Amino acid sequence: MTGASASYNPEQQETDILIIGSGAAGLTLALRCAEFARVRVISKGSLREGATFYAQGGIAAVLDDHDSIEAHVADTLVAGVGLCHEDMVRFVVTHSTECVRWLVDQGVPFTTKSRADTAPNQGDQPAASADDLTSLHLTKEGGHSHRRIIHATDATGKAVFRTLKNKALEHPNVELVENHIAVDLLTRKKLGLPGQACIGAYVMDTGSNRVRLIRARFVVLATGGASKAYLYTTNPDGASGDGIAMAWRAGCRVANMEFNQFHPTCLFHPHAKSFLITEALRGEGAYLELPDGTRFMEKFDSRLELAPRDIVARAIDHEMKRLGCDCVYLNITHKPEEFILAHFPTIHKRCLKFGIDICTQRIPVVPAAHYTCGGVLVNQFGETDIPNLYAIGETSFTGLHGANRMASNSLLECFVLAFSASRQIREKIDRTEISQEGAPWDESRVYESEDDILISHDWHELRRFMWDFVGIVRTNRRLQRARLRVDVLEQEVQEYYRHYKVNSDLLELRNLVLVARLIIDSALQRKESRGLHYTLDYPDLADHPVDSVLVPENYSPD
Ligand code: FAD
Ligand code: SIN
Repeated sequence: MTGASASYNPEQQETDILIIGSGAAGLTLALRCAEFARVRVISKGSLREGATFYAQGGIAAVLDDHDSIEAHVADTLVAGVGLCHEDMVRFVVTHSTECVRWLVDQGVPFTTKSRADTAPNQGDQPAASADDLTSLHLTKEGGHSHRRIIHATDATGKAVFRTLKNKALEHPNVELVENHIAVDLLTRKKLGLPGQACIGAYVMDTGSNRVRLIRARFVVLATGGASKAYLYTTNPDGASGDGIAMAWRAGCRVANMEFNQFHPTCLFHPHAKSFLITEALRGEGAYLELPDGTRFMEKFDSRLELAPRDIVARAIDHEMKRLGCDCVYLNITHKPEEFILAHFPTIHKRCLKFGIDICTQRIPVVPAAHYTCGGVLVNQFGETDIPNLYAIGETSFTGLHGANRMASNSLLECFVLAFSASRQIREKIDRTEISQEGAPWDESRVYESEDDILISHDWHELRRFMWDFVGIVRTNRRLQRARLRVDVLEQEVQEYYRHYKVNSDLLELRNLVLVARLIIDSALQRKESRGLHYTLDYPDLADHPVDSVLVPENYSPD
């Protein structure tokens, strides 16, 4: 299937706004911009195959009378360990209610207080009203001083995605296109023309492997994160950092790539690929235990299981190494069965598939790569270094998360930045033309690949050494080792890219190798341990923290 919406016209190679990515950020922006422009949203796989669909815990927002903007800002700053940009934190937190109201208005079926303790299949329940957000049930997660997380039981992402996708499918101004992967951005600079601007993107239809140039007044990267750089991850397959790599190649700066977040609790089972056990379990009272049943978080932090993620993940890593065990355990069996079934139906069902009844048995868990705190450097409107090119959502670096993202601030950032970007695009659109410059994709000098197995070997090698050498605990030596290997892979992939026809595996590998280099270079640059970046060579905090901003060779301000 190549066109998901009836409005899609494959012959039309121009649109007002090309949005690359159909997650929370891309779909929200599409719906906001469809009020005044034609929008095309492309997704490299099926529309749902981004992190958004799998989000569990929820969306952080200040909705309780006992909570406050100041408290949410303060918690985010503490979790970010001195590296958050306070103005950006305040901006995002202040706009949380507006976004939640909009989501409720779109029809996202968030759990209300009246149905929080009721199993989802027990009849119709009243939906929330956008006029009265106080009816929403709030759960808790690590780092939050208050109950602050709205959710749709433990499958918030699915509820958000389905609602927004259906709205977008109905909208005559939105074209949703599956199985189209963006290869690279086209800029005036790349064409040798005066003046900086992005004018479109080369996009491959993965059904036919044909690459076409799509021209647009604005191009928006909403491509998600890069956690697929690691062997073990909570993310779906597409998290290969494509947006970060494309923006870097086009001449944009990227920042804080060393802060890859490891989620403390991913299900540990030989047949369970990438299944997260939400932090909301700990928010609702679950304990972390060693194999012998001892709780251990009190040794590491007075906030116990609800300390920020970097601390909990490092504590688990430490205990697993100390004891030589394969996993630790999450235990919620002390809660009543009805409570567990009402709050965590998805996790209950999924774990049962693997023979674990979470009402009576402990859940084996390990940390896994989860979220990319760094990304394409943008301002509060999602503007990158290149005019008419925006980046929003996990692919971007706004300064919100600092050295460690606080739980459920990510979806919030997707919505707030989609709102602010849409407002700015609306202001600029009448002054921005669709450029007719640029040439079709040239395949005249490349051949069909004869040995695709090399690509999958390279994929595996990369993800393995990133896990081993650029993981939760780092050293200069490990990072240098990873750097040498990434150099070799980069050469191999370039060779491939120059001589053979592209396919999506090669494109993703090319991006992932580049992003891995950016992660390693940022990590080597940081001579301290802070938040998610912990190195035995510099175990202390530096006095004056700075962002690790990397600048590409072709960067030219203005
Ligand atoms: P995504 O939702 O990842 O979407 C990326 C899109 O870009 C996809 O459509 C993909 O196909 C497309 N794409 C990528 N590259 C290309 C390309 N080259 N060409 C075309 N299309 C491309 N955060 C919270 O705040 N609360 C939570 O409860 C929460 N739970 C999570 C649970 C899990 C299991 C995971 C993995 C993450 C969770 N997060 C949570 C993080 C959050 O879900 C993500 O950060 C957020 O959904 C990212 O949204 P996005 O729109 O930026 O990208
Ligand atoms: C979770 O539900 O634990 C994930 C929340 C997040 O990543 O913000």
